Amino acid sequence: MGFFSADIETVDDLFMHTLNATYYAENKIINALPTMIEKADNDMLKQAFKMHLEETMRQVKMLPGSDAAGSPAIDGIIQEADDVTSDIDNPFVMDAALIVAAQAVEHYEINRYGSLIAWAEELKLDPRIVSLLTQTLGEEKAADVKLTQLATQAINRKAA
Ligand SMILES: [Fe+2]
Repeated sequence: MGFFSADIETVDDLFMHTLNATYYAENKIINALPTMIEKADNDMLKQAFKMHLEETMRQVKMLPGSDAAGSPAIDGIIQEADDVTSDIDNPFVMDAALIVAAQAVEHYEINRYGSLIAWAEELKLDPRIVSLLTQTLGEEKAADVKLTQLATQAINRKAA
C-alpha cells in the first residue's frame, strides 16, 4: 500500500484510485493556471489558458472524485514548470516553457481519462459516467491540439 493510495486489488479499486488522483490533479491545475496566465506573454496563449481554466473548473464540478488520493505525477509536472519558468526572462522562451508544461498536463489527463473510460465500460458503470469522462477527454484533446497550434505559430513568427 502506497502512501497516497488505499489497497488496490481490483479494477474497481484502480478505477476509484485513478478517478481520485485525476480529481486531485485537476484541482492542482486550477490552482496553477492563474500563474501561467500571468506569466504567458502571447495574448492567444493567455486566452487559451483562461479558456481551459474555465473549462477545467466546470469539469471538476461534474467529476465524481474526491481528494482521497494525491498524484505525485502532477505535483512533479507542476513543480518542474515552476522551477523552469522561474529562471526565464525571454518572453518567447517563457511561452515555449509554459506550452511544454501545459502539454505535459494534457497528456497526463488524456492518459487518465482514456483509461478511466475503458475501465468504466469494462465495469459496466453508469453510462452517464462514461459520457462525462468521454466529453472531458475530448476537451483535453482539443486543448492539446490548440497548444500545438500555438507552439507552431510562435515558431513561425520567430522564423519570419
Ligand atoms: Fe486539461
